[in-house]
Amino acid sequence: MAQTTKTATLTFENKQVELPIHSPTAGPDVLDIRKLYAQGGVFTYDPGYTSTASCDSAITFIDGDEGILLHRGYPIDQLAEKSHFLEVCYLLLYGELPTADVLEDFESRVTKHTMIHEQMHMFFRGFRRDAHPMATMVGVVGAMSAFYHDSTDVSDPWQREVASIRLLAKMPTIAAMAYKYSVGQPSVYPRNDLDYASNFLRMCFAVPAEDYEVDPILSRAMDRILTLHADHEQNASTSTVRLASSSGANPFACIAAGIACLWGPAHGGANQAALEMLREIGTVDQIPEFIRRAKDKDDPFRLMGFGHRVYKNFDPRAKVMKQSADEVLDLLGIENNETLKVAKELEKIALEDPYFVEKKLYPNVDFYSGIILDAMGFPTSMFTPIFAVARTVGWVSQWKEMIADPAMKIGRPRQLYTGPTYRDYVDVENR
Ligand code: ACO
Repeated sequence: MAQTTKTATLTFENKQVELPIHSPTAGPDVLDIRKLYAQGGVFTYDPGYTSTASCDSAITFIDGDEGILLHRGYPIDQLAEKSHFLEVCYLLLYGELPTADVLEDFESRVTKHTMIHEQMHMFFRGFRRDAHPMATMVGVVGAMSAFYHDSTDVSDPWQREVASIRLLAKMPTIAAMAYKYSVGQPSVYPRNDLDYASNFLRMCFAVPAEDYEVDPILSRAMDRILTLHADHEQNASTSTVRLASSSGANPFACIAAGIACLWGPAHGGANQAALEMLREIGTVDQIPEFIRRAKDKDDPFRLMGFGHRVYKNFDPRAKVMKQSADEVLDLLGIENNETLKVAKELEKIALEDPYFVEKKLYPNVDFYSGIILDAMGFPTSMFTPIFAVARTVGWVSQWKEMIADPAMKIGRPRQLYTGPTYRDYVDVENR
């Protein structure tokens, strides 16, 4: 619980405004400016929200300087090592680790909701085959509100619960179908005897002519990718989901908004962009040229998969992901393909180069996840949809937390207006 024990006084233009300071359970104190406009007649200005807490939340904590990521207090490396994705989902959604019985019941509920309404298959057919799977996912997830109206009333806790399970359960099926559709193959239905990650791999890689045997190491690696991406505090897509749902919009429409935001290369699209960049670099001897471009202020090029808005020490997820990448490459006997050589050399150079060291630009989780997904056989266009599958539980948990909060208000930022001031309309013949 945040405590309010201190105040700050803001003095300007002969005015004084007292601002309460809330102390969180972890992290920096927060200045409460909610009464600032009413009492001082000014707004605050923070594009990009670099100093703004947009809500209170008890789900995920990040200390970017120390490289700490906690879900409900549990560190991500312990969860990645000892837990698994659906248990982490339960933790994010309900706040505590489940007992064995509760976990079994939760897993069963998710597993039994993995099929999608048969009519939705028709909906997929309206898309062009060459559509990016993210484009298809934005459309199909938004359209879930048309197929599952019985869980769109956000004022009803039971409907919110049903919508949560549906989104979590059906997202892998939708992502796999978007992929199958894009490669011209029939979609593969989920199977209730497989775990979440194995089911997803099979839905992506099985064909009617030949089933797909899921290797436990690949299934574990996929489970880890999902676990490591499950939630990340108030990132751009999560904030999008919160803002969209602050108007009372239905959860499927709001999660579709989150998917749209995730798609951008500065966010979830970075895993696709990172691998494409490695391929564009092509050979190790080209790396210095790309490093030069990344440092050049006049060149918009950036090393994709490097840097993070919050982590300025290291990304704790990247450490685990790197270990997973080594395991997968070892299993698949991929040692020395050119892309991997480029990745390893680039990582080494960037970690030593003063530009990257001084600006604290480390490889982030997307740098390594792309390498794993590529080795598993996924095309780059599927990297961001897999991120969306993983992040769905984060979006849903944050959405549920927000809707259940009696203090919830519609999100409505203000602005620093820089346009023309009042002027009279001029008739077209007089312009
Ligand atoms: N390559 C080269 N230079 C970089 C990079 C990079 N990847 N990232 C940041 N910089 C430089 C900037 O040019 C800037 O330099 P300056 O201070 O001389 O102007 C400085 O580092 C700070 O960069 P900002 O853009 O201000 O940092 P911000 O916190 O806004 O951006 C971001 C973070 C968007 C992640 C950025 O590092 C980036 O674009 N990285 C590449 C894309 C990427 O990998 N995104 C994935 C993020 S992780 C995720 O979504 C799971």
